Amino acid sequence: MGSRMAVAPAMKIVGNRLFSTAAIFRPAVFGFNNNAIRYGAAGPVFGPRFMGTAAVSAEEDGEEAKLTGGKKEDKAVMSYWGVEHKKVVKEDGSQWKWTCFRPWDTYSSDLSIDLGKHHLPVTWMDKLAQWTVKTLRWPTDIFFQRRYGCRAMMLETVAAVPGMVGGMLLHLSSLRRFEHSGGWIRSLLEEAENERMHLMTFMEVSQPRWYERALVIAVQGVFFNAYFLGYLISPKFAHRVVGYLEEEAIHSYTEFLKEIDKGNIDNVPAPAIAIDYWRLQPGATLRDVVMVVRADEAHHRDVNHYASDIHVQGLKLKELPAPVGYH
Ligand SMILES: [Fe+2]
Ligand SMILES: [Fe+2]
Repeated sequence: MGSRMAVAPAMKIVGNRLFSTAAIFRPAVFGFNNNAIRYGAAGPVFGPRFMGTAAVSAEEDGEEAKLTGGKKEDKAVMSYWGVEHKKVVKEDGSQWKWTCFRPWDTYSSDLSIDLGKHHLPVTWMDKLAQWTVKTLRWPTDIFFQRRYGCRAMMLETVAAVPGMVGGMLLHLSSLRRFEHSGGWIRSLLEEAENERMHLMTFMEVSQPRWYERALVIAVQGVFFNAYFLGYLISPKFAHRVVGYLEEEAIHSYTEFLKEIDKGNIDNVPAPAIAIDYWRLQPGATLRDVVMVVRADEAHHRDVNHYASDIHVQGLKLKELPAPVGYH
């Protein structure tokens, strides 16, 4: 009976509060202040909470401020784990405003890259890969017509998937086989991140409608699983498909540029996030952004065709060093 009484409050805590152990054990950490009493072993005071420690702290800051007459003491809360937010500044000393990427993630795009390179499909696998991409392009052209801003934004939601899937599978393979990756995990994850930054940029100039958001969810569900299975079965084929997808992306961005030059799409100022990410000039425009994005796609084309070629030669990716930082 005694033990049941002891267990009951603990079960009540677990049942009502689904958050990290940090909050549960906080009283022991912070001693006998007001929060400690509220979070004490006597039982839960609050309803279900589904947030992390930081969110709990932020909410409690307000309550704590009231209790301490407006004086915030959040420093102790945030630094308990030793996680400090160091101030990041630009080269000119001004504060860095982005948390999704840092100055060391930025780069100047190599615009001299050959945009016209094409992998001639020779084997039946190459032909199937190209046919797959051409087939996928057909409904895309019908859906988007000449709305290139919207098209770019939507297609980047797909383009950011293969690098992540390939990187993840190589990561798992490295763990399973106790093997080095040759830098390919990082290289493919870099590609995924770069593609995601394309999306973060284009959503500044084109907002998705509700049905477009729904379409992205559906397409992601299908494409992620298809690419995942495809990569498991044949990374050679998977990389070739992406190589051809990137060739199509170059073509799409070239059409995008033509529409801007014709005046059919406004050459609006470049989003601030793009100026910082690609280190563009302060007066950069949408045209400049499309130029650097297209150059990125050309680099992705090279990396993926190269990866497929490595497999064609009967080698594994890890046997040749990955082109890390190849933008
Ligand atoms: Fe992209
Ligand atoms: Fe790409």
